[in-house]
Amino acid sequence: MSTAAAPAVASSKAALPARAFNFSAGPGVLPEPVLRQAQQDLWSIMGSGIGIAEQSHRGTVFDKVLADAEAACRKVGNIPDNYKVLFLTGGATTQNHMVPANLLPDDGVAAFLTTGVWTEKTWEEVGVYSSKCYEAWDGRKTNHTFCPADNEVVYKDKPVYVHMCSNNTIYGTQFRNADGSIRLPHVPKGSTLVCDASSDIFSRPINISDYGLIYCGAQKNVGIAGTTLVIIREDLLEPVRKLPTMLRYDSFAKNESRPNTPPVFPIYVSGLVFQWILDEGGLAVMHKRNMEKAAIIYDALDASAFWAPHARKDSRSLMNITFKVNPKVANAADLDKKFVKEALANGMDQLKGHRSTGGMRASVYNAFPIEGCRALAQFMKDFEAKNG
Ligand SMILES: Cc1ncc(COP(=O)(O)O)c(C=O)c1O
Repeated sequence: MSTAAAPAVASSKAALPARAFNFSAGPGVLPEPVLRQAQQDLWSIMGSGIGIAEQSHRGTVFDKVLADAEAACRKVGNIPDNYKVLFLTGGATTQNHMVPANLLPDDGVAAFLTTGVWTEKTWEEVGVYSSKCYEAWDGRKTNHTFCPADNEVVYKDKPVYVHMCSNNTIYGTQFRNADGSIRLPHVPKGSTLVCDASSDIFSRPINISDYGLIYCGAQKNVGIAGTTLVIIREDLLEPVRKLPTMLRYDSFAKNESRPNTPPVFPIYVSGLVFQWILDEGGLAVMHKRNMEKAAIIYDALDASAFWAPHARKDSRSLMNITFKVNPKVANAADLDKKFVKEALANGMDQLKGHRSTGGMRASVYNAFPIEGCRALAQFMKDFEAKNG
């Protein structure tokens, strides 16, 4: 193996072009130390002379990458021993069929808290397995502006599991307490809580034992697209019906997430992100920062009637901040477009709201810098001064 002719890896800050403030809802911004490490390891990891994306998924290098990723994940989430940490594929959307396939008996009952677009999709898919499921909360009627209080969630038949989404990426609502900590819906005794935490996993302290199963696509807070993190209690591993290998959680649990070739590079990146969270001080630090960051933008929104935030105050997401120019302002929809365009020209990218909500959305995941929140708040003031 010769390394003599190897071009320099772009490891010095000066060698790299400037980066925009990336407000993307996902794939989202990654921590800079993670990007820098990945740049080097793509060339050669652990002195092997082979890049991470070229490593055999059965080799000793990936054995270590995987073991480290799992260990760091367990440490970040303080995950109890009776939970498995699995790295799957197919995105969070695949969990829409994998969860009922494994957990819901034929014509069994599961209850759904429909709080946004993603939970609407989850609800629609479960019909493949059972016609006896129901929505214990339907937020469509209130345009998904908030996450329900306990007395608004109505259970009928006792569900095997209750499905929720902790943070609604598109509408910008989150199950939260006033201090931003996790608020969980009440769940009938003996029912398992299943949570899609795709857009707020590890953004604040979490008690894993409150859930039977949590999942997320990695590409927002814990890595890049290509792997889906599933944290599942061991007693749920065995499926309720006969299933093919790739649909069974226990296949992944028995085979260390590699019943087939796993997404080596995405798992590696997640491992780096978990380690970055630990290096930064863990979830309490992430939470404090996320509160500060979101407050800068929400304060700017609340400072003037020029803006119309989407989420009700008590459900405001710390991750995805959704707003428009107040429809009462003349030409509001045109001003939304102008805002997105001019923000881009000022180094703030990906602020356009999702097609189902319109307006703007500022996604400020763990790795998003506070300077970007300040820049956006200032830009909002300047924009209003010119256009208000
Ligand atoms: C809350 C939530 N659930 C599910 C999904 C779908 O994820 P994937 O594209 O990984 O299937 C997303 C994607 O943005 C999301 O934000």
